[in-house]
Amino acid sequence: MAAARLVVLVSGSGTNLQALLDAIHEDPEGFGAEIVAVGADREGIAGLERATRAGIPTFVRKVGDYAARQEWDQALTEATAAYEPDLVVSAGFMKIVGKGFLDLFGGRFVNTHPALLPSFAGAHGVRDALAYGVKVTGCTVHFVDDGVDTGPIIAQGVVHVRDEDDEGALHERIKEVERQLLVDVVGRLARNGYRIEGRKVIIP
Ligand code: GRF
Repeated sequence: MAAARLVVLVSGSGTNLQALLDAIHEDPEGFGAEIVAVGADREGIAGLERATRAGIPTFVRKVGDYAARQEWDQALTEATAAYEPDLVVSAGFMKIVGKGFLDLFGGRFVNTHPALLPSFAGAHGVRDALAYGVKVTGCTVHFVDDGVDTGPIIAQGVVHVRDEDDEGALHERIKEVERQLLVDVVGRLARNGYRIEGRKVIIP
């Protein structure tokens, strides 16, 4: 079976992207997926450098370059679609996509979030969980729908909060779990296929 084509979207350091690159590099045949492009909403980020180092094409679409958010969404949609992905992975992509993007990629757009959804959705999942005083938190890999971090959950990983944790330390431990979870999930989606039944994601 041909490898599933992935476009990965990033906004930052790109360590989740790197985990995917490494897993594919280690077992190009067995992993079941290849990264055909990396997209970003800003320039000058380590995530784009990681892609370039790996010889993968990149594209940048900045919200500020467009008169309206919808125009940005259309540009992002077109740039992504040009690579004909089977799956799109938001790996620390800090933008909410619009209807145009979801019309094309809904049901095959995967996001990773650094909290146990449905708790602590939004841009500050780690900070909010810490401030709430939870004893366990973690990460959630889910399909993206038109809400903020509300789509069907594919897998979750658990991280215990320590008394001495600050946001940075806790996020680093979450990201260790998150990278493994994302690699595992993307590989299984690519190799096994999947179906979404209401809120449930089934990977046979
Ligand atoms: C991840 O924890 C992701 O869940 C969050 O931002 C982080 C991205 O990290 N939205 P990286 O860019 O993959 O290193």
